[in-house]
Amino acid sequence: MKIMVIGGGGREHAIIKKLKENSKITEIYALPGNGGIAKDAVCVNIGAKDIGSQVDFAVKNKIDYAVVAPDDPLCLGAVDELNKAGIPCFGPDKKAAVIEGSKVFSKELMKKYGIPSADYEVFDNPEKALQYVKNASLPIVIKADGLALGKGVIIAETLEKAEAAIKDIMENKVFGKSGEKIVIEEFLTGPEVSVLSFTDGKTIVPMVSSMDHKRALDGDKGLNTGGMGTIAPNPYYTPEIEKYCMENIFLPTIKAMNEEGRTFKGCLYFGLMLTPKGPKVIEYNCRFGDPETQVVLPLLKSDLFTVMQAVTNGTLNKTEVLFKNAFAACVVMASGGYPQKYETGYEIKAEDEILNDVFVAGAELKNNKLVTSGGRVLGVTAVAATLEEAINSAYKKIEKITFKNAFYRRDIGLRALKAGKEK
Ligand code: AMP
Ligand code: GLY
Repeated sequence: MKIMVIGGGGREHAIIKKLKENSKITEIYALPGNGGIAKDAVCVNIGAKDIGSQVDFAVKNKIDYAVVAPDDPLCLGAVDELNKAGIPCFGPDKKAAVIEGSKVFSKELMKKYGIPSADYEVFDNPEKALQYVKNASLPIVIKADGLALGKGVIIAETLEKAEAAIKDIMENKVFGKSGEKIVIEEFLTGPEVSVLSFTDGKTIVPMVSSMDHKRALDGDKGLNTGGMGTIAPNPYYTPEIEKYCMENIFLPTIKAMNEEGRTFKGCLYFGLMLTPKGPKVIEYNCRFGDPETQVVLPLLKSDLFTVMQAVTNGTLNKTEVLFKNAFAACVVMASGGYPQKYETGYEIKAEDEILNDVFVAGAELKNNKLVTSGGRVLGVTAVAATLEEAINSAYKKIEKITFKNAFYRRDIGLRALKAGKEK
C-alpha cells in the first residue's frame, strides 16, 4: 500500500515511524517531510497548504491512503478535496476541523452543549473589547479566533497588556484575518493534561494522556512555544478524572459535533485544565498534538494504520486500541533564540544510531548531512518502565547530540515526577 502523510515536523516523523511497523505499507511519501523524515519516507516538495498539488500528487501516484496531520490543511479542506478525488484519509473534513479553526465556534459549541470550559465573551469590535477589559478581573485571557501558529493566546496580567493584545490582534492585525474576532475568557488555574483521541464520529477512544511543557525555559518561564517537551502518561490524570472527562467532555463533544452536522473523524485533541472546580476544556485541536504525538505513539501497542483505517471506515468499536504499560519522555532540542529569532544551517552531529532514534522536526539534508532548519529541531524520546527512567534516558541521548547554539529544557517531566510520587 502507498501512503501519503501531509506535514513535515516531529509529529509527522513520529506518525511515519509508527506507520512503518505495518508490513502492508510498502511506500510512504511525506509532503513536504524534512531531512530526518527522508530516512523513513520519500519526501516530496509540496507544501502543507498546497492542497491542489497534494491532490494531483495523490492521484498521479495512486496513493491508497492519506494522513493529513497539520491544522492548516485540515482547516483549509484537504480531506474534502482528497476524498473528492477518491483518496481515503485520516483527518476531519473542513466542517469538523472548525473545532480548532475557530475558537468562537468551539466556545459556542461548549456553551450550547454544557461542556465545561472557561467563561467568555466574543468581540468583533475593538472598542467594545477595550471597554470590557477595563472592568474585568486580572489576569485575563485573550484569544484570536482563528489559527495563529500557536501564538494566538495572550494571558494578560495587567490592563495595559490586555489592551495591547486587543489592539495588536484587532487593529494591527498581527494574526491577519484570524484576529477579526476575539474571545476574552476567564483565567483558569490547575495542572494541564493533553488527551488525544481516535474517533470515527460514533466511538471515541482516548489515547494515553500526556503533559506538554509550553514555555521556553526551565521552571515554566520564558515565552510560549510550540512545546519544549512532553511526558506520558500524565500522573495528574487519574482514572476518576478520566471517567469524568469521558462522560462530561469527550462523549458530549462527539455528540455535539454530530448534532451540528459536523461529524468529527480523526484525532481529536482535548487540551484540559484540572481546575479546583473540575476538569475544563482549554482548547480543542483537530489533529495530533506536537510534541504530544512523540510520546503517545511510541506507547501505542496496537497497529496505527489499522486503527486509522477503522476511524475512516467507521469501525472503531470493533478495533482494539491498546497502549503499553510504560512511560515516555520527549525533550525538544531547539535552535538558540527560539521561539523568537534564531539561526539555522548548523550541522547536527551524532552517531547514526542516535540520529535514527529521534524525531526530526526542523532539519534538512545538505550534502548528505543533517543541518538545522527550524526553531524546534529534534524531539529526543525514550520509553521505559518508569517515568524517571524514560526522562533519564532521553537526557542521556541528548548528551550525545550536538549542534551550534542548541538549547533544551533541563526539567522536562520533573513536575510530573513529583506529582506521581505524591500519589
Ligand atoms: P493554546 O495556544 O490554545 O494551546 O493555549 C496556550 C496556553 O495558554 C494553554 O496551554 C494554557 O496554558 C494557556 N491558557 C489558555 N487558555 C487559558 C485560560 N482560560 N486560563 C489559563 N490559561 C489558559
Ligand atoms: N502541543 C500542543 C499543540 O500541538 O497544539
